[in-house]
Amino acid sequence: MSGFVLWFTGLSGAGKTTIANIVEPELERRGFVVDHLDGDIVRTHLSKGLGFSKEDRDTNIARIGWVASRLSRAGAAVIVSAISPYEEMRRHARSLVEQHSPFVEVYVATSLEECARRDPKGLYAAAFAGEIQDFTGVSAPYEEPLHAELRLETIGRTPPESAITVIDRLEELNLLPVRVESEVE
Ligand code: ADX
Repeated sequence: MSGFVLWFTGLSGAGKTTIANIVEPELERRGFVVDHLDGDIVRTHLSKGLGFSKEDRDTNIARIGWVASRLSRAGAAVIVSAISPYEEMRRHARSLVEQHSPFVEVYVATSLEECARRDPKGLYAAAFAGEIQDFTGVSAPYEEPLHAELRLETIGRTPPESAITVIDRLEELNLLPVRVESEVE
């Protein structure tokens, strides 16, 4: 089975991890070896010690892109969920991956207002109060993707509904195996 990279980008609290966590078992069910590189988790291992300056974020995304390209080349379906706010670094990750495998960028387009309203980790409140520096969308930039393979609007849609849209898009792109009904009952 050919690997690919499914790269979720968007603001903190946009729903990237939640949607990715629903897509992940669905890809396993379809026979893929799946790995999920989630920003919060990568930052406790591979990128431990990095902060949120542009330079550190660029390093973080370059590392994730490199690992994703290796795993997809070996045949895995790799899910990435990381803010990845800079277009240039998303393009860098794409170019590493596309040497071997397809790269599918999913923009989880939840607005800043909605992310700040949800504020699941209380980080927006802290960022608006000036207690966290360089916070994406508040005091650090988020560059909207212009060429994503999929733009997901999440307002008024449940995470499972968004996950189905992602799977549908992967099917459209011919990245999922055709399901052949078993001839043996
Ligand atoms: S990225 O910019 O380098 O892609 P990444 O996805 O790994 O970011 O990490 C983002 C997570 O770190 C957020 O979901 C949030 O929980 C946490 N975080 C802590 N400080 C910040 C900050 N200043 N800006 C954005 N996220 C932050």
